[in-house]
Amino acid sequence: MAYYITTAIDYPNAKPHIGHGYEKVLADALARWHRMRGEDVFYLTGVDEHGQKIEKSAEEHGKTPAAFVDEMVKHFIDMDKALNVSYDRFIRTTEKEHEKIALQIFEKVKEKGLIYKGEYEGAYCVGCERFYTEKELVEGKCPFHDKAPETIKTESYFFKMSQFQEALVKHIEKYPEFIQPDTRRNEILSRLKEPLRDLSISRTNFKWGVKIPGDEKHVLYVWFDALLNYISGLDYPGERFKKFWPANCQQIGKDILWFHAVIWPTILMAAEIELPRQIYVHGFLTVEGQKMSKSIGNVLDPIELVKEYGADRIRYFLLRDVSPKEDGDLSMKAFIERTNADLADSLGNLLQRTTVMAHKYFEGKIPKCGELKEVDKKLLETIPDTEELTKLMDEVQVNRAAEKIWEYISHCNRYINETEPWKEKDQERLGTIIYVLVENLRIIAHLVQPYMPEAAEKIVRQIGQELKTFKEAEFSTETTGEVKKAEILFEKKELPEEDEFSRLNLKVAEIKDVKDHPEADKLYVLEIDVGEKRQLVAGLKKYFKPEELKGKHIIVVTNLKPAKLRGIESQGMLLAAEKGDTVKVLEAPESRPGEQVAVQGIKPKGEQIKYEDFAKIEITTKDGKAVYKGKPLKTRTEEVKVKIEDGAKIR
Ligand code: MSP
Repeated sequence: MAYYITTAIDYPNAKPHIGHGYEKVLADALARWHRMRGEDVFYLTGVDEHGQKIEKSAEEHGKTPAAFVDEMVKHFIDMDKALNVSYDRFIRTTEKEHEKIALQIFEKVKEKGLIYKGEYEGAYCVGCERFYTEKELVEGKCPFHDKAPETIKTESYFFKMSQFQEALVKHIEKYPEFIQPDTRRNEILSRLKEPLRDLSISRTNFKWGVKIPGDEKHVLYVWFDALLNYISGLDYPGERFKKFWPANCQQIGKDILWFHAVIWPTILMAAEIELPRQIYVHGFLTVEGQKMSKSIGNVLDPIELVKEYGADRIRYFLLRDVSPKEDGDLSMKAFIERTNADLADSLGNLLQRTTVMAHKYFEGKIPKCGELKEVDKKLLETIPDTEELTKLMDEVQVNRAAEKIWEYISHCNRYINETEPWKEKDQERLGTIIYVLVENLRIIAHLVQPYMPEAAEKIVRQIGQELKTFKEAEFSTETTGEVKKAEILFEKKELPEEDEFSRLNLKVAEIKDVKDHPEADKLYVLEIDVGEKRQLVAGLKKYFKPEELKGKHIIVVTNLKPAKLRGIESQGMLLAAEKGDTVKVLEAPESRPGEQVAVQGIKPKGEQIKYEDFAKIEITTKDGKAVYKGKPLKTRTEEVKVKIEDGAKIR
């Protein structure tokens, strides 16, 4: 049986965060599950490299789009590697083959008279790479990016999407599993009550895209190009396409529902290609209850997380604690508690106790299975039925399936307590108990493999077995082999202690203007840009002339409670170093206003703090740099500088 699963392809305009990782891991668990069933699986993921958003980001980095994406794509491949994402193909939409197939579909649809040239004027959000109608905007701004869209007027090719409205609605109504979960399906059906408009599918206001042959000032609309990755990834219309299309499951996030539930199927209808069996819309992941954002500085890097905790722990938490149909949260506390309990304790202890006993009583040799007693049979009845679990997996209830598997693991632990092998005098009976445990561990390894591929390997290696398919992992009385000496599967982890430095939210600011404080001789009033305009009151008059300060890129504590200094409000505090009579301000000349300043390994939290809290944090200087506990304060691109002797006090 063939099983084809895809994820959205990520925009490589910035490094991936754990939200991107979550989607890939979710799809990976399904891919691995179906491989375990002995099916022929194809798992496609990749990156979406064209469009205005990428072109703009490249420009900001002073690179050509091609060089920029070549560099960025590595982070996405590294993320997949770190998280053990077992894709069969990683597609980049800049691949020549993909571009060719995208144009082939464009031509095919055009030949059928379903593409025409016209003119388009509308509000375009580059962040989303789409036009918005007045009605869709929230107070004139894009609902996802909180920014006013640009008005674009452009000659454009249009796809007659409107023609397919009826057919699409019929399809969605006929196949309830086509868009899942139901809440998303209903959302689309209700939006499809409004008339569907034709879709502008080319752009002339930028260049980075697939050029339309014979009309090269037009590039294909990035979404038209990107969606087709799902078939170009199978080398449409070749053998692989014939074998794997239609996709069994297409995983996407809730922000791109419209593209996948409306634009994608209508393109396929126009091209006379069968529709995928399912678009599955997972929720969004937050971190400690907050949306990840660069300005808050709480973006979690999946590669860093894996370095600290290993892929299995992260995969398990995301798959077990998050319900895919809803938004989920990654909090350190929940993460540590969940993985300590289920992995270190429950699963780890079962393996540990079993392997220790196999050595103590049988020198590591798997004993023979004697006659099974009631207690053994009762345990075997708790082995989950893989068909039932498959049903849950196919409904993307990976969390529920994990719950069932761990119930079974608990039964195995209880079995040890009930049979009390350490009291058993009968050697043959003792052998049977150990045998039953080893055999159940072999089954468990297969069941947890889609969640935790590394742990599954470790388990079978320790009990001298191999991973095969679910069929071959059914309980047998014939298993033989050598159990290795016990090794710890998962170390217990402690909740990382919070460093008080994390309470500081430091940012780069540019000094725009310097004025005398009308009421105080020693104070200046500074107008600064920290990504937004603010004013500071600072006691720098004794040390600097206004011209010396203007234009400097300084460091500001942005989350200090605003305070009035001689009648003027100071919205933050700049950092300066002091030693003897010398005072110097901290600087990050190459960094942009609003950029986060942090110390490696410490995430700023952003809640408001008082001056007294700040005063407790000891920042000092070393080799012309600002340091905290020996580590330099850094922006994205440079270390914070201050020209003063070592050991100055920063405040
Ligand atoms: N390039 C488009 C998709 C084209 S598919 C033909 C895109 N890229 S993206 O990088 O912005 O998002 C990639 C996927 O990650 C999307 O499915 C998106 O919903 C998902 N996520 C982005 N942030 C996320 C979370 N915080 N949590 C979970 N998924 C998240 O959209």
